[in-house]
Amino acid sequence: MSEPLIEVRDNAGIVRLTINRPKALNALNSEVIAELERLLSDLEGRDDLRAVLLTGAGEKAFVAGADITEMRSKTPQQARDFAGQALRTIKRLETLPVPVVALVNGFCLGGGCELALACDWAVASDNAVFGQPEVQLGVIPGFGGTQRLPRRVGPAMALDLVTTGRKIDAAEALRIGLVNRVMAQDELEAYADELARQLGGNGPQAVRSAKQAVHDGLDQDLDTALALENSLFALCFAGEEQTEGMGAFVEKRKPNF
Ligand code: CAA
Repeated sequence: MSEPLIEVRDNAGIVRLTINRPKALNALNSEVIAELERLLSDLEGRDDLRAVLLTGAGEKAFVAGADITEMRSKTPQQARDFAGQALRTIKRLETLPVPVVALVNGFCLGGGCELALACDWAVASDNAVFGQPEVQLGVIPGFGGTQRLPRRVGPAMALDLVTTGRKIDAAEALRIGLVNRVMAQDELEAYADELARQLGGNGPQAVRSAKQAVHDGLDQDLDTALALENSLFALCFAGEEQTEGMGAFVEKRKPNF
């Protein structure tokens, strides 16, 4: 049987997706993007989903970009369609109702960086390399980088990166807020386990509501966003999680969500 383009591991609703084209440094071609979209459409409907972790196969790359070999001969219309498919897929990743975390285990360039930017946060191995080198290929980022990068690191740093195409190491990525944490490559596994333990111990609906409040609130003015938080906070008191969580605190025991 041939290797899957994306490996899926599911541990009690914590789903790990591993992009699996290590010989091409996990570059995103149409097939990988279509497979990711298919997997995301399955995950969207799952009530037991707690978190999604996204990584790349092998020790060298998270994702080294969109597939240049495939893009090379595209017409403008084909390029629009290719990027359109990726934009749609990456948006579906971003809007999953649970935390989505990128485990960046090496090169994270072009479309790879754009994929990581759509995750709620990213952690990186200390050998990771980030960049939007598209201008060096005579194009611009096409999977959302010109829009999500400035929202994450601010317009000046984003313009520095997208106009020079320069690559940055994990330490600089941490300093500018592109990633939350940097660790040795062999510690990524332990981080994933720790995250599964933390998220697995929290109220699943509360975690979803927390993500919704942050994401939806960012698109609103502050007063509207605070009213949204107020509604979502109140809604927590209509479910069983609040009874269990607060009851467990008072009874000095661990909650059982
Ligand atoms: N597309 C297709 N193939 C790629 C690739 C990509 N983005 N990146 C790496 N590969 C392939 C290489 O062609 C090579 O294949 P072969 O063994 O068949 O020759 C294999 O992966 C290993 O790569 P290298 O031999 O180049 O490895 P290296 O260690 O010497 O260099 C690298 C690593 C610096 C990441 C280099 O591979 C590189 O510069 N890759 C391209 C990075 C890039 O420009 N990414 C942006 C793509 S454009 C984009 O993403 C547009 C967008 O926003 C939609």
